[in-house]
Amino acid sequence: MTKALQSTPQIASSALREALPNSDAGFLWDFWYPALRSSEIKGQKLAKAMVLEVPLVLGRTSQGQAFAMRDACPHRGIPLSYGRFDGQAVECSYHGWKFDACSGRCLEIPSLASQDKLRVDRIFAGHYPCAEHDGYVWVYMTAPGSRTPENVSEASRLPVFSEKYKITRLSCELPSHVDQGIIGLMDPAHGPFVHQSWYWRSRRSIHEKEKRFEPIPNGFRMSRHEPSSNSAPYKLLRYFSGEATTTMIDFVLPNMRLEEIRSGHLWFSSRATVTPVRRDLCRIDFVAAWNLVRWMPLVVPVFRVFAKKFLRQDQETMIKQAEGLKHNPHLMLIDDADRPAKWYFALKANLLDSRSTGAPMVHPMPGPVTLRWRS
Ligand code: FES
Ligand SMILES: [Fe+2]
Repeated sequence: MTKALQSTPQIASSALREALPNSDAGFLWDFWYPALRSSEIKGQKLAKAMVLEVPLVLGRTSQGQAFAMRDACPHRGIPLSYGRFDGQAVECSYHGWKFDACSGRCLEIPSLASQDKLRVDRIFAGHYPCAEHDGYVWVYMTAPGSRTPENVSEASRLPVFSEKYKITRLSCELPSHVDQGIIGLMDPAHGPFVHQSWYWRSRRSIHEKEKRFEPIPNGFRMSRHEPSSNSAPYKLLRYFSGEATTTMIDFVLPNMRLEEIRSGHLWFSSRATVTPVRRDLCRIDFVAAWNLVRWMPLVVPVFRVFAKKFLRQDQETMIKQAEGLKHNPHLMLIDDADRPAKWYFALKANLLDSRSTGAPMVHPMPGPVTLRWRS
């Protein structure tokens, strides 16, 4: 058992370092990650992305199936994204080898002569399972050196609770390791300092909070509760529905925060994922949907203004933090405000442990826990 298994308060400040052995980049493989927005693949054009330091070439076949290949030809490594795509196969720009876009299987090597015995169909370009949901192209990042599994679980879907709703997406890059991005996302104590504004909350509104958390598979949940009185959006929901408003927030490995707010027939649902691009760069993809005031014009643009401001405040903070982290300072995680961050590191370590031993994953939370902090 690794040290991170103990989710006790005394997990030391070194937890941050322990989760980041020098030998690897601290990425979680064998999970789905959003690589691109669906709108970034236009017609039969090839698009490029980087996920977990893997360069990808992505596209959509003429049948509308999204695909993701490693952006390197298996012959001599030139990026396949320089090649041509005819709706089925990608042709390398260097010697014209052709690869089926969905399976990566080689279909043709133009230089082969009639006496050549090379089995072309045994050659594969690197490829990854790929799916489109909620306006994103998701790629299942199989661990380096492992085969693409036949059956992988489905990529995430944003929970929605009625047929008609508004949806909007935002993203922002952070110059940080994914771990810093994730613990920033789940950090309850920075709100009054980073996100101060008249419509949301001010520093003076800091008060003691008590929230119940429970373990869920691969993550933890802030149990459904009536949200604190100092948040304007919740007041708005209560105003329109006339009913009690409740919220529930999940964190699920590898990188996902899901929030669900319900108030009578009204709902708001959001998902934020923090995807590692490189070890020093990650991207937050935020998608939100709601059926509140769907009929009102300008609700989406107004929401986007506020959400963008929020994300920008986090981004600016993390840019400043990256400045400090460059010099490898000693860091601390304190109770109770940083307990979710400790759970994240423990979940990650325990998952890696169970993958390497084959034993079932040990959840770091023994059961429901109540945390108290001021924010
Ligand atoms: S490098 Fe791609 S075909 Fe030779
Ligand atoms: Fe924030």
